[in-house]
Amino acid sequence: MDQEKFYITTPIYYVNDKPHIGHAYTTILADIMARFHREKGSETFFLTGTDEHGQKVQTSAQERGISPQKHCDEMVVHFQEAWDRLKINYDKFIRTTDDYHKKVVQQVLQELYDKDEIYADEYGGHYCVGCERFLTDKELEEGNGKCPQHDKKPEFIQEKNYFFKMSKYQDWLIEYINEHPDFIQPEHRKNEVLGFLKQDLNDLCISRPKERLAWGIELPFDSDYVTYVWFDALLNYVTGIGYKQDNDEFEKWWPADFHLIGKDIVTTHCVYWPTMLKAMDVPMPETIFAHGWWLMNESKMSKSLNNIVSPLDLMDHYGVDPVRYYLVRDMVLGQDANFSEKLFIERYNAELANDFGNLANRITALINKYYDAIPEPGELHEKDAELKENAEKLPAIVHSYIEKMDLNKATDKVMEFVRSVNKYMEVREPWKLIKKDKKATGTVLYCAAEALRISARLLHPIMPDKINILLESLPVNQQQDKFAWGGLAAGKKLGDFDALFPRIDTQKVEKKNEKKSKPKSKKKKVDMIDIDDFSKVNLKVAQIKEAEPVEGADKLLKLQVDDGEGSRQLVAGIAQHYEIDELIGQKIVIVANLKPAKIFGVKSEGMLLAASDNDKLTLLTPSEEIANGADVS
Ligand code: MSP
Repeated sequence: MDQEKFYITTPIYYVNDKPHIGHAYTTILADIMARFHREKGSETFFLTGTDEHGQKVQTSAQERGISPQKHCDEMVVHFQEAWDRLKINYDKFIRTTDDYHKKVVQQVLQELYDKDEIYADEYGGHYCVGCERFLTDKELEEGNGKCPQHDKKPEFIQEKNYFFKMSKYQDWLIEYINEHPDFIQPEHRKNEVLGFLKQDLNDLCISRPKERLAWGIELPFDSDYVTYVWFDALLNYVTGIGYKQDNDEFEKWWPADFHLIGKDIVTTHCVYWPTMLKAMDVPMPETIFAHGWWLMNESKMSKSLNNIVSPLDLMDHYGVDPVRYYLVRDMVLGQDANFSEKLFIERYNAELANDFGNLANRITALINKYYDAIPEPGELHEKDAELKENAEKLPAIVHSYIEKMDLNKATDKVMEFVRSVNKYMEVREPWKLIKKDKKATGTVLYCAAEALRISARLLHPIMPDKINILLESLPVNQQQDKFAWGGLAAGKKLGDFDALFPRIDTQKVEKKNEKKSKPKSKKKKVDMIDIDDFSKVNLKVAQIKEAEPVEGADKLLKLQVDDGEGSRQLVAGIAQHYEIDELIGQKIVIVANLKPAKIFGVKSEGMLLAASDNDKLTLLTPSEEIANGADVS
C-alpha cells in the first residue's frame, strides 16, 4: 500500500432511498480507514456521493409530480445530513448530476466511440430495474427466471442500443485478477468473479433510448440516447478526483487504494469497471473490497418488509460512537451480519461501558485523588514493564488489521488489551499500594493512564466523538509518534470529562420496545356475520399487470389486474409500501364483486386485500402458483 497517499471511495448511493444501516456501514468503514491514514500522516482523499440518474429516480419524480433534478436535490440532503451526524469526514461529495461529472462522462464516451470501443446493435435481454442492468440467462434463477437479488422476473426488452466491447477484455481481465491477488478482496469474492468469467463475457449495453428513459446523460454521438446508469456511476471514481479536469489532482490520487463496495455490486465493480478503465488506458485501482450485508432477523432489509434500521434513530438513542463501534465490531470481514438491538446493547454495556469507560473513570479518578497532576513514572516493576511492552506492540498489530480492512479484529485486539489493563489494575492495586509506596503508585497510575491513552488513540478513528473528549483531557508531550509509549506528560493536569459511556439500562429499553411493538388496542366492536353473508363476497386471485401513481394522491396507485376473465382497474392505497416495479407480476387476492367506485376521480372496480399493522402493510398473496381468477374461499 502506498504510504504517501491514500485514496478511498464508497459506492455512490441511489438517491431514492434514505440512508439505512447498510449504507452507513460502508461509509463508516471508509471514514475509519481515511481517519486512520490521516492520523498516520498519509495524504488522504475520501470520496463519497450519490447516484442520481436512472429509472427509479425518474419514476419517483413522476410519482411526486416534480422534475427529477428537484427530486434529487431534495433527496440528496438525507445522505449529506446523515453523514454529518455520523461524523463522516469525507473530502468530496460527488453527485452524478454535477456538471463536471456529466461533461467528463460524455468526453469518455466520445473517446471510446472514436476508438471503436463502442458500437450500435439491436439486442434483446432481461432488464432488471432493481439492478439497473441486463442480466444474462445464467444470472437468472433456474426454473422461474427471476433476478436472485430482487426476486422478480426482469422484463424482456428488445431495442437498438450502444455497446461497449467488454468481451474482448475477458482474457486480459482473468489474467490480471490472477496476477494481482489483492485486486479483489476478500478471496472468496475473487473466486466468485473468476467463476463468473468462466462463461463468455458479453459486450456491455451502455445506452437507453430516451423514449424509455430520459433521465440520464445524453450520448454525445446520438442525442436519442442517454448513457447507462452504471457507465455513468462508475466513472465517479475518476471524475471526483479531477479526471480530464485537473491532471495534477488526478495524477496525485489515482489509482484508488480501496473501492469499498457491498457484495451485491461485485460484477459491476470487478468486471465492468476494470474493462472500462482498460479501454480508457487508465491504471487499475489497487483493491476492490466487498463486504457482507447487514440482515434483520436473517433476512434482507427492505421497504416492503418494513425492517429497515435507521442509523439516525439508533444514534438518537445511543450516540454516534456506539453506533460506529457496533457496526465495525460485529461484522466479521466479508461475511453477513445480523443486526440486533439486543446485541448492540450487550456489546455496549460489556465493552464500552464496563471495559473501556470504567477503566478511564477509574484511572483518572485515582490520579485526581492521589496527585495534582499526572505522576512521574519511576522504576518499572515486572508487571509495569510487561504492560509497557504489550502497549508498545499493540499499534503495529492493530494497524496491520486495519490495513487489511479487518476492523473487527482490530477492535478486538484493542479491547483485549483494555481488559488486560483492567487486570493489571487488579493485580497492582494502586488503591492499596498508595498506603505503602507513593512513588510506585505513581508509576502504576502513569503506566495505566499511558496504556489507556494508546488504546484511545487506536480507537479514535472508530469513535471520533467521545474518544476525542478523553484524548483532549489527557495532557501529552510533543511527540513524533502519537502511539509511542511515554507520550503522556507527567506533571501536567488532567482535564475533566463526564462518564464516557454510561451503562444502558436494558430493562428500560425492553419496556420501551414492548410499548412500541404492542399493536395498538384494536378492540373495536366487530359485528358477527353468518356464512351466507360471507358467501356474498366474491374473492378471486388476480395478477398485477400495470401500476402507476394516481395524480395528486401520494398513497394511491392505479393498478391494471388480470382476474382470469380480462383486465380490470383497481385503485389501492399501497403507494408508500411498494415500488411500482416490485408489484408487476405479483399475484394478489381481490374482492371481485365490490360495486365500482371513483377514488380521486379514478374508477376502481373492486379492491385488493392487504394486512396492516401500525405502519406495516403487506399484500395477501397465494403461497403457490395458481391461475388468475382462482376462487378464494
Ligand atoms: N448506486 C449503486 C452503486 C454505484 S457505485 C459506482 C448502488 N447503490 S445502493 O444505494 O443500492 O447501494 C450502495 C451500497 O450499499 C452497496 O454497496 C450495497 O451493497 C450497500 N448496501 C445496501 N444494503 C445493504 C445492507 N443491508 N448491508 C450492507 N450493505 C448494503 O448499488
